[in-house]
Amino acid sequence: MPTWLMQTQSFLIVALMIYGITQHKTRLKHVKIMSSAMIWDVILILQIELSRSAILKASKAMGNPMLLNIHVSIAVTTVLFYGLMVWSGRKLLAGDQKVYNRHKLLGRTTMVLRILTLATSFLAVAEPAA
Ligand code: HEM
Repeated sequence: MPTWLMQTQSFLIVALMIYGITQHKTRLKHVKIMSSAMIWDVILILQIELSRSAILKASKAMGNPMLLNIHVSIAVTTVLFYGLMVWSGRKLLAGDQKVYNRHKLLGRTTMVLRILTLATSFLAVAEPAA
């Protein structure tokens, strides 16, 4: 799978998520958009894995360029935050307003992490392998 196709998908996922946050007042629309973006992102990781044996490459962290290690660390943290977004989002949907600010803060952190994942992905593929 060509790099441009994965980068394009990654960019579209970030754009979809930003749009999804702007639609938070329409709760079900927000949930549908964010859930679709997170699922698409996991499918993108599987595409990268199948075409690049990315996990095998990532596991050789000691030999990898530093930028690749930074990219992989941020990307893995982002996916972990997806779990926190689903957990806090479901609580919100169930009426537990106490988690609103936590969901909002986690949500903004998740967006920053996802944008950093996109940015570092360009640097990681640009740096020649050691
Ligand atoms: C990457 C995933 C997600 C991100 C980044 C995200 C981000 C946000 C943000 C930033 C807000 C607050 C907006 C504001 O007040 O300015 C929000 C609200 C909300 N989110 Fe999410 N969210 C995500 C996923 C989800 C999921 C999976 C659910 C449900 C299962 C959910 C349910 C809600 C609900 C119910 C609100 C409150 C809407 C309102 O009353 O204004 N979110 N989200």
